Amino acid sequence: MMIRRKKIYDGKAKTLYEGPEKDTLIQHFKDDATAFNAEKHAIIDGKGVLNQRICEYIFQQLEAIGIRTHFIRSLNMREQLIHKVEIIPVEVVVRNMAAGSLVKRLGLNKGDTLSETLVEYFYKNDTLGDPLISEDHITVLGWADEEEIEDMRALALRVNDFLRGLFANANIHLVDFKLEFGRLWENDTVEIVLADEISPDNCRLWDKETNDSLDKDRFRYDTGDMLEAYREVANRLGLMTQSGRDDIAGPVLVK
Ligand code: TMP
Ligand code: ASP
Repeated sequence: MMIRRKKIYDGKAKTLYEGPEKDTLIQHFKDDATAFNAEKHAIIDGKGVLNQRICEYIFQQLEAIGIRTHFIRSLNMREQLIHKVEIIPVEVVVRNMAAGSLVKRLGLNKGDTLSETLVEYFYKNDTLGDPLISEDHITVLGWADEEEIEDMRALALRVNDFLRGLFANANIHLVDFKLEFGRLWENDTVEIVLADEISPDNCRLWDKETNDSLDKDRFRYDTGDMLEAYREVANRLGLMTQSGRDDIAGPVLVK
């Protein structure tokens, strides 16, 4: 049977549909992988399912320590029911080590440690290639006010503290990651909550022993099997089991 539902937004790695309840949406994780503002594109069979599971797990853990997210519950292996929020068009990047655009922009060496955690802001705009911006750009151009920036920064640092520990237990360095936030309206109040996703698509995760990338950099720079890395991350977080059905080769996702 064809399920018909209204598409609200078609992103590079996710599609949003109208949700079944008021002020909800369905967030569907696609198998599409893109890099360099979609110059590079591929379909990686099974990536969406892995990202959904990893994201579900992380958002549930964050909720458990009192960090509010847009996540309500998973609906199936690829889809989550989420609160409809007003997305703030700012990508908040948190860095514990130098890598990626920071290395290029400031001539650092990949893997350099930073004296403190660095928070950067980028304007979420594909046409402009997501340019780096300052806090003043955000307030002057009206994307968020000072209090909201302070909330986003504080939440980003709490997420970093928590995720560093979570990944350290899995023998993984959390090098950097990107977050998006939204305004959640409830009656007359508004709260800044974590939105979008947290998965190996928007984190840099390095194996602690080998410094091997276990994230989308494998796809960006053709340095290895992306799906294998994502499975490894899910496995180390305890989200896979070896004792799956006999007719499926290899580990399967556990719910
Ligand atoms: P960057 O070093 O390329 O600025 O990326 C920093 C982090 O943000 C890295 O973990 C990858 C993630 N990221 C996204 O999630 N989406 C993007 O569009 C970009 C450029 C980076
Ligand atoms: N997500 C961005 C793109 O699609 C860039 C990246 O993650 O590298 O192109």
